[in-house]
Amino acid sequence: MSRVVVTGGSGKLGRACVSELVNHGYDVVNVDRVFPADLLSRFANGESEESLEPFFPVRADLEDFGETLEALAQVDQRYNGVDALVHLAAIPAPGLVPNHVVFRINTMTTYNAFAAARRLGIRNVVWASSETVLGLPFDTPPPAIPVDEDMAPKPESAYALAKLMGEEMARQFCRWDPALKIIGLRFSNVMEPQDYRAFPRFDAEPETRKWNLWGYIDARDGATAIRLALEAPLTGAEVFIIANAETVVTRPNRELVAKFFPGVPYREGADPNETLLSIAKARQMLGYEPMHGWRRELGESSERSSR
Ligand SMILES: NC(=O)c1ccc[n+]([C@@H]2O[C@H](COP(=O)([O-])OP(=O)(O)OC[C@H]3O[C@@H](n4cnc5c(N)ncnc54)[C@H](O)[C@@H]3O)[C@@H](O)[C@H]2O)c1
Repeated sequence: MSRVVVTGGSGKLGRACVSELVNHGYDVVNVDRVFPADLLSRFANGESEESLEPFFPVRADLEDFGETLEALAQVDQRYNGVDALVHLAAIPAPGLVPNHVVFRINTMTTYNAFAAARRLGIRNVVWASSETVLGLPFDTPPPAIPVDEDMAPKPESAYALAKLMGEEMARQFCRWDPALKIIGLRFSNVMEPQDYRAFPRFDAEPETRKWNLWGYIDARDGATAIRLALEAPLTGAEVFIIANAETVVTRPNRELVAKFFPGVPYREGADPNETLLSIAKARQMLGYEPMHGWRRELGESSERSSR
């Protein structure tokens, strides 16, 4: 069994990632500053201590290199040696802390995670970049729609700039050590099942989701993408856009693009609501295929509540 450290395993995407990896037989260690918000309630609801064990964090502040190095090496009797790293810990969006603070925390923690992995010979690294490097909130329209990984990055915030610095660090670390693999997943906006309650409003007011081309990622599909990236037999630095298969609205893409991005070259997909954050590269190179979707999820939950 491979041992994987998941930094930020107490967070939204991190909790889904820990579950996904445990369910696929990995020995998982969560490294985070805080406990998962739902840990006590899950315990109170009868989940066994043993099944919750991987969620109990080794508490470390990854802005500190010593703490990062130690947490990736060995923690007393809990574990000794780590085979792979999933680095998700970060301030997760622009606007939550002052700009220089998000830049400092997100670049420093990413540097420390990559450098500690390299020092310890951990050569399988997957980390959370972000859709924001693509030019969100698209006040300047993208060069074409759908957007893909071939387009030049256009960070428009300190948060996005820090993610792009992470992508560049990954390239340079892999140049230093060609046997290293560092896969950056440019996640769209992460959603848990309860978040789908907001989707009918998005559908009624599509202008409110123009900022990320109406994209989203179900946390469980994001977690599957992480596992597939860990298992991919690649070396070097790669980035992949990770979104769900369809947009957050029912209005056809052709109408959205004509109204909100007039004049931008648009390539129509097979489905009128196909994601405008292209996942073709992840499909082709990782075998990624999203399994969840907001319409099915809302249909299922309204079915459940009417039973
Ligand atoms: N949420 C989104 O919509 C979204 C979209 C694209 C990318 N991402 C990226 O995905 C990753 C996970 O996002 P999330 O939504 O789960 O965020 P989250 O805030 O729910 O989880 C992030 C976790 O990182 C931990 N953390 C932050 N700084 C730390 C530090 N210095 N040391 C140790 N732990 C630290 C936090 O305690 C938290 O548990 C982040 O890198 C984020 O930038 C998120």
